[in-house]
Amino acid sequence: MTEHLTIVEHPLVQHKLTLMRERDTSTASFRRLLREISHLLAYEVTRDLPMTTRTIETPLEEMEAPVLKGKKLALVSILRAGNGLLDGVLELIPSARVGFVGLYRDEATLQPVQYYSKLPADLPERVTIAVDPMLATGNSSAAAVDLIKAAGATDVRFLCLLAAPEGVARMKDAHPDVRIVTAALDRRLNERGYILPGLGDAGDRMFGTK
Ligand code: URA
Repeated sequence: MTEHLTIVEHPLVQHKLTLMRERDTSTASFRRLLREISHLLAYEVTRDLPMTTRTIETPLEEMEAPVLKGKKLALVSILRAGNGLLDGVLELIPSARVGFVGLYRDEATLQPVQYYSKLPADLPERVTIAVDPMLATGNSSAAAVDLIKAAGATDVRFLCLLAAPEGVARMKDAHPDVRIVTAALDRRLNERGYILPGLGDAGDRMFGTK
């Protein structure tokens, strides 16, 4: 059985993540690092995609060459911070279909409130990767995956930059079949639901809204 949680311990991922965590890293650098790191995380989350072969001709001879099997992937960005990961993942998988789920966190209850959902029509036939940089309480992530599964997706993966143990446990409970790929598993959440040591508010840091 596939691991529920994969931590990408590659030195480049860990180095870039450290730069992103630092409070004085600028918005421009944060964005560039997020794009670079998302390529490396996308590489890991797609590692086991089904393959087939196709007959092609090289300049020298014919060969049976490996290609991805089935329909193109679907990516679902959990707004708004998911868009930061989405951009980089799309550079690696440019033909993916893209959906968006809008959820904000009620700061008092920490529960997700849905305000938007637009998903590709044929999710049952596509491997679907939900992207959100921060797996914190796991409440919005689990709610987003609920929506994605309700639209028919059966092979769903979750890609994030940082995860808290609380969020991983919540996702494992709600969606044990969904593999989580992350760059790090941090210590815990604080009383406001922020990941410690974390990197702060990912949306604010990538969009410069604070
Ligand atoms: N969302 C963020 O952007 N940061 C956290 O630490 C937790 C949730």
